[in-house]
Amino acid sequence: MNTRCGTHTRDEDTRTQNRLKETGNIPVHIAIIMDGNGRWAKQRGLPRIAGHKEGVESVRDIVETCGQVGVQYLTLYAFSTENWKRPKEEVSMLMRLLMRALRDETDKLHQKNVRVHAIGNIQELPQKVQDELLDAIERTKENTGLKLYLALSYSGRWDLTNAIKKIAFEIDSGKINPEQINDQIISQHLSTQGVPDPDLLIRTSGELRISNFLLWQLAYSEIYISDVLWPNFRRNELYEAIDDFQKRERRFGMVSEQLTKKKPQAGYAKRLIKHVSGL
Ligand code: FPP
Repeated sequence: MNTRCGTHTRDEDTRTQNRLKETGNIPVHIAIIMDGNGRWAKQRGLPRIAGHKEGVESVRDIVETCGQVGVQYLTLYAFSTENWKRPKEEVSMLMRLLMRALRDETDKLHQKNVRVHAIGNIQELPQKVQDELLDAIERTKENTGLKLYLALSYSGRWDLTNAIKKIAFEIDSGKINPEQINDQIISQHLSTQGVPDPDLLIRTSGELRISNFLLWQLAYSEIYISDVLWPNFRRNELYEAIDDFQKRERRFGMVSEQLTKKKPQAGYAKRLIKHVSGL
């Protein structure tokens, strides 16, 4: 008997997942800007927190689905540095929701072999949230499945500023020479040290901004904007995003011919120059 799973039956769901695994590469790292909780609530005449609560349901479904399709890293922008400027009441409700979600979900995440990590200025979070977070990180540290990064009190500029400070101290103490600074050194000093850059950035609710998320790390990520509000963004929407990703050609600044490993034909460089210069 088929059990319902969103609007899919479980069989259909498995078929969709298998198809995605066969048709192309599953992104190794997906980063998500979860947006639209407030609008979702407003459309229903509910308080904003109702949107955040429903947003937790989407987090649950997306985490589970990422694990099932073989995504290795998932980074969720759960609370930005700028979000501290929201009304006090909303901030404290969000913190309570986060604390409860961590407390209620850690066992299930552990059963699903998910490893929890956090990036951001964690010390700024209320002590109770920090305690739940550290407990989730500690309890799941041996897990080998999906690595879930929660970006909390996080911003890309905060991350880069910290990295620059660390590098400056290392120069000061003679550990590194300014001439040695390169992409790799910078990446190694960011909070995402050791994590591959996101292959796919998803933003929900139709906004076209990066909003101070992983500024350095998103340099070559494919961007997928969904009009769906975060509380309605579930596995079917994720499948659409992965489908779309699989149709993209990732050139990393190169030309298509280099990607297919075909040797450029004689005169190719000349023709390319002619083409781009319009001569
Ligand atoms: C953006 O919607 C969403 C947030 C600022 C918070 C996201 C938090 C959650 C989904 C809950 C906790 C997460 C975890 C990881 C358990 P918005 O309020 O900016 O919506 P709007 O743009 O429609 O106002």
